[in-house]
Amino acid sequence: MKILIIHGPNLNMLGTREPQLYGTKTLDELNQECKQYGSTLGLHVETFQSNSEGDIIDAIQKKGKTVDGLIINAGAYTHTSIAIRDALATLSFPKIEVHLSNIYAREPFRHHSFLSAVCTGHISGFGSKSYLLALQYFSIRDNR
Ligand code: DQA
Repeated sequence: MKILIIHGPNLNMLGTREPQLYGTKTLDELNQECKQYGSTLGLHVETFQSNSEGDIIDAIQKKGKTVDGLIINAGAYTHTSIAIRDALATLSFPKIEVHLSNIYAREPFRHHSFLSAVCTGHISGFGSKSYLLALQYFSIRDNR
């Protein structure tokens, strides 16, 4: 099973960006952790990051054709982007929205996500473990 992880704007700055909120792991370290953990679960994990809304939509459209599941942390676009929501809505496989921080425990403008309604589920507030929990979903979801 192939899983694509998409990271949105400013997540390339992980490690130095507001570490009290987002932790001290760099994006490379987080991606490595996801790939390694994914492989223990039998998942092939591919990662993509962009600061640009259009590039994220292109990745959803193009890379979305080649995978079985998607994990997305759209960063601040979560709270603004109907275009990313519409791109996600075209994908028929499971999509998990993740956030490092608990967006509901933060400023009111972060409480609304345009993406949640078109995602299968939402995991937020567990730091880098939010991504690992999302990967677990893909490894157990076919088990009855
Ligand atoms: C974030 C939460 C967003 O509100 C914020 O704009 C981010 C990171 C998170 O992972 O906690 O860039 O998506």
